[in-house]
Amino acid sequence: MIVTIDGPAGSGKGKIAKYISNKWGFKHLDSGILYRNLAYKILKSQIDIKSTTEIKEIMKEQKNISFRNYKRLRSEKVSKIASIIATHKFVRDHINKFQRNFVNFNKKNSHFVIDGRDIGSVVFRNAELKLYIDVSEQNRAKRRYKQLIDSGEKSIYRQILKDIKLRDKKDKNRSVSPLVIPSGAIIINNNGNFLRTANQINKLIRNI
Ligand code: C5P
Repeated sequence: MIVTIDGPAGSGKGKIAKYISNKWGFKHLDSGILYRNLAYKILKSQIDIKSTTEIKEIMKEQKNISFRNYKRLRSEKVSKIASIIATHKFVRDHINKFQRNFVNFNKKNSHFVIDGRDIGSVVFRNAELKLYIDVSEQNRAKRRYKQLIDSGEKSIYRQILKDIKLRDKKDKNRSVSPLVIPSGAIIINNNGNFLRTANQINKLIRNI
């Protein structure tokens, strides 16, 4: 069984996916980490982000991508590069293939909860349950600001809100796999109390 969770930056997809993973014993795949991993490698190697040839070179070296959530992958710099490289079809094809292979390889022993921007709309269109998480820009910026401060990064709320708007614009307007509400997805309003969101989702999973 596959549950997909799509939604914009800072909507709480990761928290919801982790909750489902713990509560229901599903394997959690955070597809954003795959984009962040590649972005981090690009940042480290100081290649020209506009050069698709150089990005392809780095991808060649990256045979096995880790789903582990290292702190170094969460910085705003990495977020920005991730959303830029995510506009390239060749990057998305590479990462989608990796996700599908991973699920195929492990599907005998596991159910999955997978979060990202295109999981229900492109990568796993036939998933048993598709969720789309909806939260206002302001609430997302507030949560992201708190996350960064708590993890010890310097942060300015107004800048975070600006960055969130920019990432939304990039994610929603790119020509390849833009962020959309996947067909058949259930929209979850995650502006309020997490417990309410969790109860709503548990009911949906029980009814699959
Ligand atoms: O979800 P997260 O913020 O970690 O993702 C980092 C970036 O990777 C996003 O801003 C988005 O541009 C890109 N991404 C994507 N498709 C996914 C997951 C992430 O385009 N399935």
